[in-house]
Amino acid sequence: MRPKSLNLQLLFVQLCMPVATAMFYYPNPQVSQLEHILVDNWGAYASNFSSAITPCTRYVTEIGEAADNSGRTTSAQWLRVVFHDFVTADVGAGTGGVDASIGFETFREENKGSAFNDSFTFWRPFVNEFVPMADLVALGTVMSVNLCGGKYIPFRPGRVDALGADPTTGVPEPGTSLEETLEEFERAGLNQTEAIVLTACGHTLGSVHHSGFPEVSDNSTVSENNTNGGINFDSTRGMFDSRVVQEYIDGSGNRGGSLVTSFNETSRSDLRLYESDSNATMKTLYTQGEDGFLDMCVDLLGRMIDTVPAHVTLQDAIQPMSIKPINVTWDIAENSRLVLSGKVRILDQAGQDKTVTITFSNGYKEALTIENATGTSVFGETQFAPFMIDHSRIGASSSFSIGAGGLAAETFDIQDSYLIIPSLSTVNGTSVKMTIAAKKGANDSGLSARITVPTAQPLTLGPKSSLAEIKLQRLSGGPSGFVLWQGDTDIEQPTGAVSIRLMRDGETLDTLLLDGGVAGW
Ligand code: HEM
Ligand SMILES: *[C@@H]1O[C@H](CO)[C@@H](O)[C@H](O)[C@H]1NC(C)=O
Ligand SMILES: *[C@@H]1O[C@H](CO)[C@@H](O)[C@H](O)[C@H]1NC(C)=O
Ligand SMILES: *[C@@H]1O[C@H](CO)[C@@H](O)[C@H](O)[C@H]1NC(C)=O
Ligand SMILES: *[C@@H]1O[C@H](CO)[C@@H](O)[C@H](O)[C@H]1NC(C)=O
Ligand SMILES: *[C@@H]1O[C@H](CO)[C@@H](O)[C@H](O)[C@H]1NC(C)=O
Ligand SMILES: *[C@@H]1O[C@H](CO)[C@@H](O)[C@H](O)[C@H]1NC(C)=O
Ligand SMILES: *[C@@H]1O[C@H](CO)[C@@H](O)[C@H](O)[C@H]1NC(C)=O
Ligand SMILES: *[C@@H]1O[C@H](CO)[C@@H](O)[C@H](O)[C@H]1NC(C)=O
Ligand SMILES: *[C@@H]1O[C@H](CO)[C@@H](O)[C@H](O)[C@H]1NC(C)=O
Ligand SMILES: *[C@@H]1O[C@H](CO)[C@@H](O)[C@H](O)[C@H]1NC(C)=O
Ligand SMILES: *[C@@H]1O[C@H](CO)[C@@H](O)[C@H](O)[C@H]1NC(C)=O
Repeated sequence: MRPKSLNLQLLFVQLCMPVATAMFYYPNPQVSQLEHILVDNWGAYASNFSSAITPCTRYVTEIGEAADNSGRTTSAQWLRVVFHDFVTADVGAGTGGVDASIGFETFREENKGSAFNDSFTFWRPFVNEFVPMADLVALGTVMSVNLCGGKYIPFRPGRVDALGADPTTGVPEPGTSLEETLEEFERAGLNQTEAIVLTACGHTLGSVHHSGFPEVSDNSTVSENNTNGGINFDSTRGMFDSRVVQEYIDGSGNRGGSLVTSFNETSRSDLRLYESDSNATMKTLYTQGEDGFLDMCVDLLGRMIDTVPAHVTLQDAIQPMSIKPINVTWDIAENSRLVLSGKVRILDQAGQDKTVTITFSNGYKEALTIENATGTSVFGETQFAPFMIDHSRIGASSSFSIGAGGLAAETFDIQDSYLIIPSLSTVNGTSVKMTIAAKKGANDSGLSARITVPTAQPLTLGPKSSLAEIKLQRLSGGPSGFVLWQGDTDIEQPTGAVSIRLMRDGETLDTLLLDGGVAGW
């Protein structure tokens, strides 16, 4: 019995190998991209995600233009978007939550204001097979809070985009009664105390605008530098801080903003909520001070962004990677040479000198040179070390490890059995062409490619996924020891990166994301 089960285990491991060794993206395409958005904030190779909220008082309109004199604030809009997506959750029924259904719901009176389509317009190019809009709705809040003075809310990926509007309605509005407001929070899983804390955490950023909410904010602040007439919740509209609590309790500054002080008593929803327990929760927040407030916000905003429909399972929180291989790929260089190239990103504290070494599992080793251009991140400083190595030196390797200064060395898998060739794979408008190389001796029968294209759909700015197949045909020539296959197909107009998976029998052998012309790198 014993030897037999051992053999079965070995066989199982071998059968699973192709799935486990999907190359190029560490630890996988989804986490690699989301980590990039989260960590590469400014400077070299920054994701452009942070630019919309740098500085935190910035405003990027629905058509993607800065309009800083409007009195609107993108970092604040991102928090409001996730709240409106979240609060129609029915946790008892296991429906709703953060699923980007808000994109379909912008015509509802309870979702008036420009925040939703403004935000979706900015996020849209980042969406692809591995990055759903719903994860960006959550990540927007993680980044606004972390970049604008708050703390890091652990970001767990894995949300799933809704295919239509959530049938549940009921987002608290300025004129909603206290009872109904509390019922709406309760349905979404939050009691009265939590509703007060969460609202204070949201209403530390941004404003209530005369344009959109004239029943709340009067026209006193409308000016050439505040054309939409925003009345700020506190005196630091772009700072995620406890100022709103202090000013409310002290009666100083903006005294909590116009949902507390409105000329229109019916529209003083924050005042009704905050004093619904005789101000007890607000006073507790006040005495806890800045740090305590930020911690409570991490907790409650975290619960909000992690509220998802019952059929969705979130993954572990993304940790910023100290050592991250980026754009690692085999490609065909001049004279049909096969080369592995990429960059190693080192995330560390600024000003530390590092020596970066790459060592392949066959023993081949190189010292890498760090590029001059550095990036900055809320998590530290990023440096980049490029490499380009001939297949003949490392062909027998199944992994490489990176050592960098004082950081613990880390090992990453590679494979050279099936390779999508980036320089011979392109998206041009609505046509995709791809080329792969299969190592001689690797089983190359039954290969096909699955293309996933993010495309526009009616009623929301959130893209849907369209699928296409490519049948591959054998070519002559190519690097020695490899056989080339090629194919092409037409696709719908992409809104972001197009992904190609090389498949056989439902297994993914390799993955490549192709810039659709607008992708978020
Ligand atoms: C009783 C519950 C709530 C009501 C009635 C309410 C109502 C409002 C209203 C009327 C605005 C003005 C929007 C505009 O003029 O563009 C606003 C802004 C905002 N809300 Fe709430 N809100 C509530 C709770 C929350 C919660 C729980 C959060 C997030 C955790 C949140 C986040 C925000 C943010 C960040 C803004 C500023 C948006 C901007 O400056 O564009 N709100 N809210
Ligand atoms: C809300 O729940 C928290 C625990 O999560 C508890 O400490 C608090 O007392 C509850 N508030 C109310 C009003 O039930
Ligand atoms: C006062 O606020 C309520 C609720 O938001 C609204 O229905 C009413 O029209 C407002 N009144 C004025 C004068 O703006
Ligand atoms: C502001 O509103 C008041 C009435 O509430 C009106 O008399 C005044 O003309 C308005 N000002 C501007 C600049 O629209
Ligand atoms: C608007 O901003 C400009 C510069 O940012 C400043 O010179 C001007 O005084 C401001 N106008 C008002 C009405 O605040
Ligand atoms: C709650 O606090 C606000 C602001 O300090 C104050 O105006 C209000 O009277 C208080 N309400 C109660 C019931 O204590
Ligand atoms: C990775 O590849 C993308 C697409 O070619 C490029 O825009 C980006 O700058 C590359 N990143 C690094 C760190 O080289
Ligand atoms: C990088 O920095 C070094 C030292 O400051 C300088 O000599 C070199 O020219 C720089 N290289 C590039 C490509 O800018
Ligand atoms: C993309 O397609 C257009 C029209 O089909 C063609 O004119 C153009 O040369 C192509 N571009 C590339 C880089 O192949
Ligand atoms: C090669 O793959 C095809 C398709 O999955 C399969 O039918 C065939 O048995 C495989 N051949 C070998 C030698 O493994
Ligand atoms: C938001 O965008 C969608 C999709 O383009 C559109 O159908 C909807 O009317 C827009 N909503 C608003 C309030 O402009
Ligand atoms: C980032 O945005 C800037 C404009 O703000 C643009 O010039 C640049 O091409 C963008 N980078 C990428 C990789 O999309």
